[in-house]
Amino acid sequence: MAVLLVALTLLVSLSASASAAAFVPQDNFLVDCGATTTATSPDGRVFKTEQQTSQYLKAEDDYKISGEPSADVPSPVYLTARIFVQEATYAFPLTRPGFHFVRLHFFPINNTVFDLQKATFTVATDKYVLLHSFNVDNTTKPVFKEYLINAFDPHFSIKFSPQKNSAAFINAIEVVSAPDELIADSATNLLPVGNYAGLFASAFQTVYRLNMGGPLVTSANDTLGRTWGNDESFLKAKSLAKTVSVAPSAVKYPQGGTNSPLIAPPIVYATLVEMAEANVNQPKFNVTWNFEVDTAFGYLLRLHFCDIVSKALNDLYFNVYINGKMAISDLDLSHTMGALAVPYYKDIVVNSSLVSDGLITVQVGPSNLGSGDLNAILNGLEVMKMSNTVDSLDGEFGVDGRKESSGSKRGTVAAVGFAMMFGAFVGLGAMVIKWHKRPQDWQKRNSFSSWLLPVHASDTSFMSSKASASHKSTFYSSTPGLGRYFSFAELQEATKNFDANAIIGVGGFGNVYIAEIDDGTKVAVKRGNPQSEQGITEFQTEIQMLSKLRHRHLVSLIGYCDENSEMILVYEFMSNGPFRDHLYGKNLPHLSWKKRLEICIGAARGLHYLHTGTAQGIIHRDVKTTNILLDDNFTAKVADFGLSKDAPMGQGHVSTAVKGSFGYLDPEYFRRQQLTDKSDVYSFGVVLLEALCARPAINPQLPREQVNLADWAMQWKRKGLIDKIIDPLLVGTINPESMKKFAEAAEKCLAEHGVDRPTMGDVLWNLEYALQLQEAFSQGKAEEESKSSSPSSSSSTSSSSSAAAASPSVAAENRPVSLPEENKGPAEVQAIDEHSGTAMFAQFANLNGR
Ligand SMILES: *[C@@H]1O[C@H](CO)[C@@H](O)[C@H](O)[C@H]1NC(C)=O
Ligand SMILES: *[C@@H]1O[C@H](CO)[C@@H](O)[C@H](O)[C@H]1NC(C)=O
Ligand SMILES: *[C@@H]1O[C@H](CO)[C@@H](O)[C@H](O)[C@H]1NC(C)=O
Ligand SMILES: *[C@@H]1O[C@H](CO)[C@@H](O)[C@H](O)[C@H]1NC(C)=O
Ligand SMILES: *[C@@H]1O[C@H](CO)[C@@H](O)[C@H](O)[C@H]1NC(C)=O
Ligand SMILES: *[C@@H]1O[C@H](CO)[C@@H](O)[C@H](O)[C@H]1NC(C)=O
Repeated sequence: MAVLLVALTLLVSLSASASAAAFVPQDNFLVDCGATTTATSPDGRVFKTEQQTSQYLKAEDDYKISGEPSADVPSPVYLTARIFVQEATYAFPLTRPGFHFVRLHFFPINNTVFDLQKATFTVATDKYVLLHSFNVDNTTKPVFKEYLINAFDPHFSIKFSPQKNSAAFINAIEVVSAPDELIADSATNLLPVGNYAGLFASAFQTVYRLNMGGPLVTSANDTLGRTWGNDESFLKAKSLAKTVSVAPSAVKYPQGGTNSPLIAPPIVYATLVEMAEANVNQPKFNVTWNFEVDTAFGYLLRLHFCDIVSKALNDLYFNVYINGKMAISDLDLSHTMGALAVPYYKDIVVNSSLVSDGLITVQVGPSNLGSGDLNAILNGLEVMKMSNTVDSLDGEFGVDGRKESSGSKRGTVAAVGFAMMFGAFVGLGAMVIKWHKRPQDWQKRNSFSSWLLPVHASDTSFMSSKASASHKSTFYSSTPGLGRYFSFAELQEATKNFDANAIIGVGGFGNVYIAEIDDGTKVAVKRGNPQSEQGITEFQTEIQMLSKLRHRHLVSLIGYCDENSEMILVYEFMSNGPFRDHLYGKNLPHLSWKKRLEICIGAARGLHYLHTGTAQGIIHRDVKTTNILLDDNFTAKVADFGLSKDAPMGQGHVSTAVKGSFGYLDPEYFRRQQLTDKSDVYSFGVVLLEALCARPAINPQLPREQVNLADWAMQWKRKGLIDKIIDPLLVGTINPESMKKFAEAAEKCLAEHGVDRPTMGDVLWNLEYALQLQEAFSQGKAEEESKSSSPSSSSSTSSSSSAAAASPSVAAENRPVSLPEENKGPAEVQAIDEHSGTAMFAQFANLNGR
């Protein structure tokens, strides 16, 4: 008999080891973001670089960074990261529908590009919001997030969206098929008691995964790559609990597939927590674990049991309670599974209404049916957050902006994320609290429209009380500068009810529409998105700024609308769009060198005016080719003052967060967080290089040394070979002297230290000079051509004239050089520009005398 039993046990354990064979996921995407070589994680899995998986990443402004190996870095996948300043998407072509593990690894590498502890961003799939306004906070440990997402579409993508003026980053991504048997569609519902069907329609985030009474089980010991932590820190009273463990080989998975190592590895079932030696005075008690969770969500709890403690069948009967409710009563594992040491698990859905105090409490205690010693056990526990009604796992908004319409009040949130792998506490608590602090929409709107534009408020006492801050009162007292007031109906009609076809731009603030007002005058209508709190600040900044600023080379504000809590700005329409579009990427007729110079000069004038033309001086903070717009006549105008900030006189401004766009950012600004008008000068240097080389400031597709335009072009400049990398379309039409002067100007702008950079006035002077040299050159060429019609010279001019013909409006203008430009601004401004113009003129006079 004993022999037979041993033989039977052997048979069972043999079948167990057979099914314990490693699971081979059909989809297995492991990406080491920002890496240049593959990395092998401690569990032996190989993470590939994005180059090897290049079809997956779609990003515009992004950055690769790497860190130094150290004790804080437990896996080589954390040694590199990719930073995004604009929305970026990883697309994974799935081959198998069903649940997939999606794992995101974040480690804030110390780097000179962006302070990643401050990076705030949202991560979403096509359907689910995974992380909303996420921030690793001040952790220096890796932060790990795991999701289970049921994918029905072969096109699976993960999108990273940095908050305006912030960045997103990621160190590694896993998208890995989960076995079908891992999740069933139904579970037991805790309240009301019954069956819960529909788990397939949910997405899950692993919040806790614990190996009761056992060691940390890393992804190396779990064929599904899961990590199981120890439970001790969650025990309410450690003295009431005792751990038991047996050899993992003692665990006998049942035949027939109701449980297998895919559900949980044997090491999880081979250890447990039971009741400590029964206290004589109080033989019955519960072992209790408490888990902090986010209140606004429902949870799926998976409880793992395996009776490795009973000496005989039908000895152990116990109850399981969740938040005080009976979840499983009179559980007799030997009866349920037909033998001892056979794993069993149970899924229980806990409705969000039961976790309103932010706590899930799991208790096990003896039932009254037990015949032997009073005992109760738990081997493992998984707590998985379930996506809410708008398909979000974080926050109350879905990917499409839908808001969860939950009537349930949300108490104080004590949610603390738990990074299972490394025991690191994540900044989830802070994040959720921030989200709850967000003002209600009505509050936001009220305060917004009355605060910002009290000129239309009837309650004047409110106005004056609100306008107490000195800069505000000057703003309010100079109301004539505010421009025209538009009614909402007027703008609705002008934009054909904000027709999607009328959208000409999309920004963090909201959409920009083309519209016709009055007699058919075209205008750009920028409609604020009331969801974005950030946008409100920018709206306030922008209208204050623009109302003060009138200049030929600044995009001018025509008016605004604040009716119905709307925040709408109406600008002059710039029919030729951003400068960048005429340099590369859009296949527009290319601009001659002269025209590019004129555009750069116009933009420089606009910036010069910002820096010097008002009493205090303004730093633009986001100078780039997409913020230089061109009108009908290709006159350049600087746009987007959303990031502008009054610069204090004299000293540099110490700002709290780095703003601006990658590839254009002043290195000194990064290092010292010190913002001066020289930061704009640096960015403008990059603009000049873009105009010369016709390529983006950052192009991650290029070989490493070429990615950053400023670095790359300055290498060539130092070698005296900048002509090798200029826009091929300029070759032959550009005066080498003009190019040299221009490149020198760019180089000076890009000086490492702000003090070594020229002022915008100096830059302007150099550009004017470069233009003059070019004009003399073109004139010479033309004369040469008219005198001798030798085939060689006509061939070289034909390329320049064909370029001009391609964009007729470009070559037409022939403004006299070096004269102060006519200014349409207020008198004060004119004086300044006149002054710099005169100075420039004088310098040109000197120059001519040399
Ligand atoms: C980050 O790097 C800077 C300069 O290399 C150093 O001063 C600073 O202490 C580092 N911070 C951390 C958290 O390692
Ligand atoms: C993060 O900062 C807060 C407050 O500044 C501090 O209490 C906390 O200990 C810090 N956490 C870490 C991991 O440095
Ligand atoms: C995990 O796996 C490693 C190597 O396979 C092994 O040495 C180690 O003992 C295992 N740990 C546990 C807790 O099973
Ligand atoms: C919670 O209960 C409500 C009403 O009983 C139900 O509509 C909702 O779907 C439940 N949520 C979850 C996550 O089970
Ligand atoms: C165990 O916990 C449940 C639910 O909180 C409670 O109803 C029960 O009385 C407890 N049992 C003992 C013995 O304390
Ligand atoms: C373009 O130039 C023409 C002729 O100089 C002028 O009439 C027109 O107003 C200009 N357009 C803009 C938008 O400045």
